[in-house]
Amino acid sequence: MRARCAEAYAELRTGCPVFHTEAWGGFWVASRYEDVYEVGRDVARFASGPGAMLPPVGHGRPLLPMDADPPEHPEYRRLLLPRFAPAAVAGMEADVRDLARGLVDEIAGRGEADLYETLCKPLPMLLITRLLGIERDETFWAWTDTLIYGRVDGTSPEEIRAAADGLYGFLEGQVADRRRRPGRDDLISLLLQGDVEGRPYREDEILDLCFFLLIAGLENTAFGIRATLRHLAVEPGDRAAVLADPGLVHNLVEQSLRLYSPVTGLCRTATSDTVVAGQSIAAGERVLLLFGSANRDPAVFPDADEFHLDRRDGRHVAFGIGPHRCVGSNLARLEMRVAVEELLRRIPQFQLSGADPGWYDATRLDIVWDPEEVAR
Ligand code: HEM
Repeated sequence: MRARCAEAYAELRTGCPVFHTEAWGGFWVASRYEDVYEVGRDVARFASGPGAMLPPVGHGRPLLPMDADPPEHPEYRRLLLPRFAPAAVAGMEADVRDLARGLVDEIAGRGEADLYETLCKPLPMLLITRLLGIERDETFWAWTDTLIYGRVDGTSPEEIRAAADGLYGFLEGQVADRRRRPGRDDLISLLLQGDVEGRPYREDEILDLCFFLLIAGLENTAFGIRATLRHLAVEPGDRAAVLADPGLVHNLVEQSLRLYSPVTGLCRTATSDTVVAGQSIAAGERVLLLFGSANRDPAVFPDADEFHLDRRDGRHVAFGIGPHRCVGSNLARLEMRVAVEELLRRIPQFQLSGADPGWYDATRLDIVWDPEEVAR
């Protein structure tokens, strides 16, 4: 679907902007920008509580704060937002750059690398584990991979359960450790201070928040970095333009988010009988907000299927829309920008080593370059 998404999305938007499918127990799909915008912003008519991911992650627990509704939802965000606000994230830039530089330095002399394994995955992993105050551990990636992609690639429920148990077991240990030795400044310690309308967070809320922060910070960001670097590999004109004018990296990141939206879509559930774009939707029915299609809607973005390095198109909904909009968007943007800057700084000329794997898979990104042309 993602490979030919431009055509498929266009057919949906013009032919049947809100359509029903029987897949995964049945749900509606909203594909136009204006409908995604309307549903995403109206948390009274459309709840997240029954679960935003379709198909669900399969470990039987809510993904907090994404799967929460008022009164808990705004309280969870109240605690998290200051840590991810623009000023706080700007203060992380030196760290992110250090990490990215170290990763690029490791491959610079080789002349070839799989960028997905050497830069796109480890950068967000090093960062989110640092923010949570936990040691980097390759097992995380295996667990989160199983949880995110196992939903759609036929992984058995037992394997998914085992991955969730592994991750929750690890996080329980971390929470217990923070309770024994309070006073640290990491995100897990922060969650221990949370309250919902005056009552402290329960243990299960703390664990569900930790769990989601870890997976939200890893896979989507790795996907976004990979799609952006792959774009630079297959579009040497855009790469040359960014090298000539480094300020263009902001537009590069926004266009990449818009066209290669890492999160294709998320669900809401109607709280009462309602209507979207003339289509009746019954209470309890689910609506998938197709962010990937909204971001290619020509009603909002002229020439919507093209990559415009001269435009920012800041209204895209790659980070969602409304009260659940991504808490980590500033950080994700920073990681994507710095990954590009640090790669181009040392390895300005590179190309794919084989056939184009496309932007749409979370798989290898093999590139080659001349080690003689590497900058010091
Ligand atoms: C390119 C990378 C990323 C993309 C494309 C992305 C996308 C999204 C989207 C579409 C949502 C909306 C959920 C909804 O409407 O139900 C969301 C929510 C969220 N994201 Fe991200 N995200 C990214 C990176 C991050 C990072 C780095 C973090 C934190 C470290 C993060 C933390 C969150 C949290 C906590 C929520 C839940 C917000 C809420 O429900 O109130 N994300 N993200």
